[in-house]
Amino acid sequence: MKNVILTGDRPTGRLHIGHYASSLKPRVELQNSGAFPEIYVMIADAQALTDHFDDPAAVRRSVTQVALDYLAAGLEPEKAVMFVQSQVPELFELTAYFINLVTVSRLRRNPTVKAEIAQKGFAESIPAGFLCYPVSQAADITAFGATHVPVGEDQLPMLEQAREIVRRFGELYAPVLTEPQAILSDNPACRRLPGIDGKAKMSKSLGNCIYLADGEREISQKVMGMYTDPLHLKVSDPGHVEGNPVFSYLDAFCRPEHLAEYLPEYASLEELKAHYCRGGLGDVKVKRLLERILQEELGPIRRRREALEKDPGAVLEMLQRHSLRARETAAGTLSQVKRAMGIDYPSGMTIAID
Ligand code: TRP
Repeated sequence: MKNVILTGDRPTGRLHIGHYASSLKPRVELQNSGAFPEIYVMIADAQALTDHFDDPAAVRRSVTQVALDYLAAGLEPEKAVMFVQSQVPELFELTAYFINLVTVSRLRRNPTVKAEIAQKGFAESIPAGFLCYPVSQAADITAFGATHVPVGEDQLPMLEQAREIVRRFGELYAPVLTEPQAILSDNPACRRLPGIDGKAKMSKSLGNCIYLADGEREISQKVMGMYTDPLHLKVSDPGHVEGNPVFSYLDAFCRPEHLAEYLPEYASLEELKAHYCRGGLGDVKVKRLLERILQEELGPIRRRREALEKDPGAVLEMLQRHSLRARETAAGTLSQVKRAMGIDYPSGMTIAID
């Protein structure tokens, strides 16, 4: 079986460094590893509408933003099919068949959906489409025969539901679908980056993000204003690295070369942390290190983004072309699904009424 990747993002704004660390950067590395002959990266606009149905214009605007982030971060149109979910109607047809294979109580138990329902304050007024988005995500994944889905930790329950749907489909009809497995970043710090305010998650609605499109000045201001250890008041005070987002970001982004270049007096990040914990190391010094690392990592991405922004038409044209390619693959799976279910009526046949 050939290795196929499918992954994606909801277009609800520009992507931030949490997306970058947990999924975008690993995706680019997987793309460049050459181990995956087929890679699909989907801009999940229909999924974004499940909780932004009152503002489709914002979703539409974000589609281009996310595509720009993809290209700027290093995804290449020759190696990865970048497409728009709503332009592949086969996905919704598959969803219609899969939705019978899950129960409402199972959907309500999905921990990520549960957390989102609480966060969005849906209470009992949960839009049905929102509750069911894990089913449409199973369609996204299986339509492309994905063997691997690189995602952030919060998406693991979606993968579990997709695997359940694949198995159920196989038991009921025929084993034509592929069970996907998740790929998580092997650096745990990359899997869930906290916000610059120290809150557990970086999220647009919490206003605690560093965006891939942020300018040099914004990055600097955001890093210098980051939440740190509230008990570390004087430089000489002992500090804490757990729950301190400056160190979480260093865990995610700092490589030995960075320390050698910017703070050669420390042989490793562990030594830097030990000094902070002992006392005698100021927040500003640590933040300066982080700022340099982030500027180095994000600078080339921003410059590529600025160049691409000059021709949004070319980006849209690429999305359109890739969406057509994605349709071909999804249509192949859809016809196998219909055949497995015995609803592949010969074309032109009038369905007999008995
Ligand atoms: N749920 C993902 C997100 O919140 C987006 C997504 C939609 C996705 N379909 C997918 C991710 C399929 C991986 C595989 O960003």
